[in-house]
Amino acid sequence: MRVHIVDHPLVGHKLTILRDERTDSLTFRNLVDELVTLLAYEATSSIAVEQRAIRTPVAATTGVHLSQPSPIVVPILRAGLGMLSGMTRLLPTAEVGFLGLQRDEETLQAITYANRLPDNLAGRQCFVLDPMLATGGTLVASIDYLLDRGARDVTAICLLAAPEGLTAVEKAVGDRGNVQIVTSALDERLNERGYIVPGLGDAGDRLYGVV
Ligand code: URA
Repeated sequence: MRVHIVDHPLVGHKLTILRDERTDSLTFRNLVDELVTLLAYEATSSIAVEQRAIRTPVAATTGVHLSQPSPIVVPILRAGLGMLSGMTRLLPTAEVGFLGLQRDEETLQAITYANRLPDNLAGRQCFVLDPMLATGGTLVASIDYLLDRGARDVTAICLLAAPEGLTAVEKAVGDRGNVQIVTSALDERLNERGYIVPGLGDAGDRLYGVV
């Protein structure tokens, strides 16, 4: 499994405002959108392309074009939805599937409550959107789901990751498939409630309020 921590001043700047407890929900949503677009640029550096012959107004040349079948973007409900527009801005032709997974706050295990994805993902490149890689339970369940259905590779884009979560995903994935994690920072640890420290709090609540 590859881990890519995007070290860029703009990413650091936006992340710092996201972390700040004084940042209001509207600013938080807008910044997540911008940050995901920056992370998506890095996350798609190995996206499959094929050669395409074209003519410019001046001459014939060969360029590249995204391959078929198109990539699938999979936001993990609910907080991953806040990352969707930032991702599809860069990949407007991607298909979008949905996985509803949430943490049981007692056991910290992932529970699936919704799924809208093709059964057969053979050969597909998948981009999972999950803001907080904390215990790793949600991401492990999502990656398992996609690899079990034949996904060719899975890239998870996370705003933040904890070392515990990265270790859990690495252990669960083993040598199955081609898995990559792209994140803006690797934080210190999880606290006793499973929150990332220093983190940014509950991403879903900060995006959408407490419902
Ligand atoms: N989920 C969140 O929203 N925040 C954390 O810190 C951990 C999991």
